[in-house]
Amino acid sequence: MKIEIEIETRRSMIETALRDMIPGEDVRPASIHQAMRYAVLNGGKRLRPILALEGARLAGGEMERVLPFACAVELIHSYSLVHDDLPAMDDDDFRRGNPTCHKVFGEALAILAGDALLTRAFELPLMMMREPGIRCEDLMRAWNELACAVGSQGMIAGQVIDLESEGKWIDAETLRYMHRNKTGALFVASLKGGAMIFGASDRQLQALQRYAEHFGLAFQITDDILDVEGDEMLTGKPVGSDERSHKATFVSIFGLAEAKLMAAESVEQAVDSLGIFGKEGEFLRALAKSILERRQ
Ligand code: IPE
Ligand code: IPE
Ligand code: MG
Ligand code: MG
Ligand code: MG
Repeated sequence: MKIEIEIETRRSMIETALRDMIPGEDVRPASIHQAMRYAVLNGGKRLRPILALEGARLAGGEMERVLPFACAVELIHSYSLVHDDLPAMDDDDFRRGNPTCHKVFGEALAILAGDALLTRAFELPLMMMREPGIRCEDLMRAWNELACAVGSQGMIAGQVIDLESEGKWIDAETLRYMHRNKTGALFVASLKGGAMIFGASDRQLQALQRYAEHFGLAFQITDDILDVEGDEMLTGKPVGSDERSHKATFVSIFGLAEAKLMAAESVEQAVDSLGIFGKEGEFLRALAKSILERRQ
């Protein structure tokens, strides 16, 4: 399987759907819709919605039919980045190769654009309510999984620990707790949510949960590594941001070499989780392995 082609097919479905799911730039009040579109339609890798589509496929559904859920996941991710970049948080000026949302639209509108993206995200699954072959209770389950993953015991918990750990040494358990929540939780909800919508079995969901937890950890460790030795032209965001803010990261706590080993170990565990899917798990296997080579 050529993973790049498979990724591209999914990505282009997601790009088209995302354009339709945010109000147009001329819809009143234009400024907020311009800021929302700016924050989302700007070349993200779309990994989380790609996982949502793959979850649906593995559960026997058609990928197209979970696009509203997949887009919801990406709107939430994009909002989290807009807020993460604000001066009160990481204070970064570049994202996805462009000036950050608050640099272009000002802080107040960037905060509101983030709020509006999060709110819009929770409207989208409603579009799937009357889809034939999708049971309302399965959809609700996925919706709930997503809501829990990004709240104060999920993504926000991770962001809180991230801020409270600035300038401090934290132990390995706290570091893992932080990464599991700030990054892992949304990966888990994306993949499992897509599968839940098509009624995946408990056994399948457990395997996907394990995969996405390890995938998320490996992904955030490599993000920490790229913050040190990445190329800004490829990552599209400033290198050295974590060091400037005295962040606790896998690199600052364990050093580069150990962080790389830990990322490789997590990828291996992600791959090991997929046994029950046999050949059908090939896309997720290849996607996990690609994390170790990523430069963006
Ligand atoms: C960046 O996520 C934030 C992290 C959780 C590491 P991505 O690296 O997926 O960012 P985009 O969406 O491709 O810009
Ligand atoms: C961001 O982590 C995680 C969330 C936005 C939830 P980082 O602060 O490491 O992400 P980047 O490096 O700015 O993309
Ligand atoms: Mg941050
Ligand atoms: Mg940041
Ligand atoms: Mg980072």
